[in-house]
Amino acid sequence: MDVEIVINNAGIMRMKMAFDRDLIDALADELRINTFGLMRMAQAFAPIRQKNGGGAPVQINSVASVRASAAFATYCVSKAASYSITQSLKDQLADQGTLVVSVYPGPTQSDMGTATGFRQIAVPAGEVASTVCGAIDARAFHAWVGQFAELVSESYSVFSQTVVEGDMAAIRDKAFL
Ligand SMILES: NC(=O)c1ccc[n+]([C@@H]2O[C@H](COP(=O)([O-])OP(=O)(O)OC[C@H]3O[C@@H](n4cnc5c(N)ncnc54)[C@H](OP(=O)(O)O)[C@@H]3O)[C@@H](O)[C@H]2O)c1
Repeated sequence: MDVEIVINNAGIMRMKMAFDRDLIDALADELRINTFGLMRMAQAFAPIRQKNGGGAPVQINSVASVRASAAFATYCVSKAASYSITQSLKDQLADQGTLVVSVYPGPTQSDMGTATGFRQIAVPAGEVASTVCGAIDARAFHAWVGQFAELVSESYSVFSQTVVEGDMAAIRDKAFL
């Protein structure tokens, strides 16, 4: 059996702020789906990837992975955590030729997008799909969807290119000079 592209899209958002009483319960739910869900998917497909090499697991992260918002604080925690494990997967799977793609939609037209209240700037869900295809073709790790996300990426790209996608061994060596 072979599986080349797996898109981990499932996600939930609880609109919880930092002082809401049920904050911890909301975060537990979001971690279970948004973060542990990614880990379970990665583990489920690991044997196939190891056997066949290559492939492209795609993780739908979010602008909320790199910039938290007060209105949905716990969701941002879960998306930052999923971004973190996505980076670990990228590094761990690189030697077997597996391309990991981390996708950052801004507000998107969906039930979740409507709940955030950003409807006016929400992009059609099809833009997420075309960005994913473009990122796989370009063998890119970071993929930003929509103008809002692209504006965030302009400021984030120096860090992401030099640190997240950069050569950590070279940075470590420099620190020891
Ligand atoms: N909308 C945005 O503005 C936005 C922005 C950035 C990132 N994202 C991310 O984009 C992804 C898709 O979200 P969306 O906007 O399409 O949200 P949505 O309209 O609320 O849809 C969520 C999707 O996740 C599925 N899902 C939720 N819990 C699941 C579970 N336990 N097992 C399997 N499937 C489950 C739902 O399936 P059912 O319909 O069967 O419940 C649904 O297909 C999520 O990862 C979200 O965090 C969304």
